[in-house]
Amino acid sequence: MGKTKINLKSSIDFDKVRFRYPTAPITQPDTLQGVTFKIKAGTSTAIVGPSGSGKSTIVQMIERFYDPSSGTISLDGAKLTDFDLSQLRMSIGYVSQEPTLILGSIRENMLFSNKDATEDDIIRALQKANAGFVQELEGGLDAYVGSTTVQNLSGGQKQRLAIARALIKEPSILILDEATSALDPKSEQDVQQAIEKIQQSENLTIIMIAHRLQTIATAQNLLFINSPKEILAAERGTKEYDRIFNLLKSQNYKHQAIEDDIIEDSMFDQSNPDFEIPEERLDDLLDASMAVKHAVGTGILDLGATLPGPADAENLDVV
Ligand SMILES: Nc1ncnc2c1ncn2[C@@H]1O[C@H](COP(=O)(O)OP(=O)(O)OP(=O)(O)O)[C@@H](O)[C@H]1O
Ligand SMILES: [Mg+2]
Repeated sequence: MGKTKINLKSSIDFDKVRFRYPTAPITQPDTLQGVTFKIKAGTSTAIVGPSGSGKSTIVQMIERFYDPSSGTISLDGAKLTDFDLSQLRMSIGYVSQEPTLILGSIRENMLFSNKDATEDDIIRALQKANAGFVQELEGGLDAYVGSTTVQNLSGGQKQRLAIARALIKEPSILILDEATSALDPKSEQDVQQAIEKIQQSENLTIIMIAHRLQTIATAQNLLFINSPKEILAAERGTKEYDRIFNLLKSQNYKHQAIEDDIIEDSMFDQSNPDFEIPEERLDDLLDASMAVKHAVGTGILDLGATLPGPADAENLDVV
């Protein structure tokens, strides 16, 4: 790769950031309307807010899938736009709600993320991600995994592999966008433990989007999207943190439909001519395609395309 990674030391800063999706209908207000906040380096921060409030948008802007319409985002005081795009993406590990594994061995999946990784690096990353189950798979690191044709992994196991794949890059920033929300309770717990272990042992800037209070409570800082104009920040142990946390508690904070499972079975039932994909599932499909875009953008998936930049994010073909 040749380039050095960004070693985030101080903070990620959003300064009066305004943003609207280029494809947003005219009636839709700007997603972010001049927000200012700070994410402290070397700590973990949970971004919370109602569905559609802009949580995923914020993390995608940090990866420069989108640039602000006005205002600036900076890393340690240097403008995000001044960094080389591949250097930036190399420095960020991203784990989505439904990770895309490459059809191939576990080893190949790891090498996709860092082609220079040694056997030891791979084993270490798997350990950090609580993915000891790999040893028990037939073939171990050579066990075949991947999308639809090979179904030998649970959702939680896939997710821990995705975390290991993000960590093997030795990123400076780790982004987890709803990394546990598509999982059954047992898998969620396994992945949650992995995340907590990483929080305690790694000198990483972790940004997590989560809907469970239990998960949110593991982060040292909270960013609460109060409105498109205002993002409240609070550090654990402060009165403001308790105030926001209690507010979330009283709202029974859940911004994602938990009823997803109910419609799961019928979703692809195309034999029913009256069947339409429920609106709430459309978001999931979009999220899944976003995950592929991220994988392409971070070099995990090489589709032979050049790195998609902010202007391309909307147009990138998803295979
Ligand atoms: N590609 C897009 N084009 C146009 N509008 C978009 C696009 N992606 C998101 N939006 C809009 O931007 C707003 C913020 O979306 P975002 O995905 O960041 O919300 P979120 O807080 O992550 O929500 P959720 O909790 O449901 O994941 C929403 O109003 C959404 O409709
Ligand atoms: Mg989101």
